[in-house]
Amino acid sequence: MKFAIVSGSHRPAAQSGKVARFIGSHLKTLNPEYSTYVLELGKAALPLWEEGIWNKDPKMLGPWKPISEEISGADAFVAIAPEWSGMVPAALKNFFLFASDGCLYHKPGLIVGVSASRNGAYPVAELRTSSYKNTHVQYISEHVIVRNVTEVLNEETAVSEEDSLIRKRLDYSLRVLAEYGKALRGVRVSGVLNRKDFPYGM
Ligand SMILES: Cc1cc2nc3c(=O)[nH]c(=O)nc-3n(C[C@H](O)[C@H](O)[C@H](O)COP(=O)(O)O)c2cc1C
Repeated sequence: MKFAIVSGSHRPAAQSGKVARFIGSHLKTLNPEYSTYVLELGKAALPLWEEGIWNKDPKMLGPWKPISEEISGADAFVAIAPEWSGMVPAALKNFFLFASDGCLYHKPGLIVGVSASRNGAYPVAELRTSSYKNTHVQYISEHVIVRNVTEVLNEETAVSEEDSLIRKRLDYSLRVLAEYGKALRGVRVSGVLNRKDFPYGM
């Protein structure tokens, strides 16, 4: 099983990138046969989406195609969404415009909100409200909010109760995500889905 993990921060040295890498390594401890693709949008920025992509404009398709191919090969998706001004950063919203090409079509998604303080809930609400319609990503009911992010997930093992609790939540949510990863394969091959007539959802 393959997992695509996207860190939505614009910052090259983002805490969200740290969370993405932690999740990638943890998945491999759950099952050494799991493979991961980690995309940090602060390190590999996409251009701002524009409609040239529909005509295969190399300025759009060049940076996006290899990413889309990686995500198309994944069974499950993790969106790491730092809270910026109470919102999801623009780079992550821009990613979802590109990802309307079917690479996330009926794949399970886990949302991980990130905050350096006590917030981090707004990006969860925002992604659950938008971002799924044209991508058809299926967000699972579990989500994780990593609060006080600079103080957790820094070492091999937990250094505080908070660190331990967040690892338990991530562990559980990733196990659930993996099961949905298996289950939704059945939905994709069921013959019921019709992306041709309903590409933009409902
Ligand atoms: C432009 C900007 C706006 C931010 N706004 C919020 C916010 O509304 N709520 C919050 O909890 N943290 C906010 N933060 C702090 C982030 O929680 C912090 O940077 C955290 O490490 C996650 O972002 P990162 O992945 O870019 O590191 C903001 C940070 C930036 C750069």
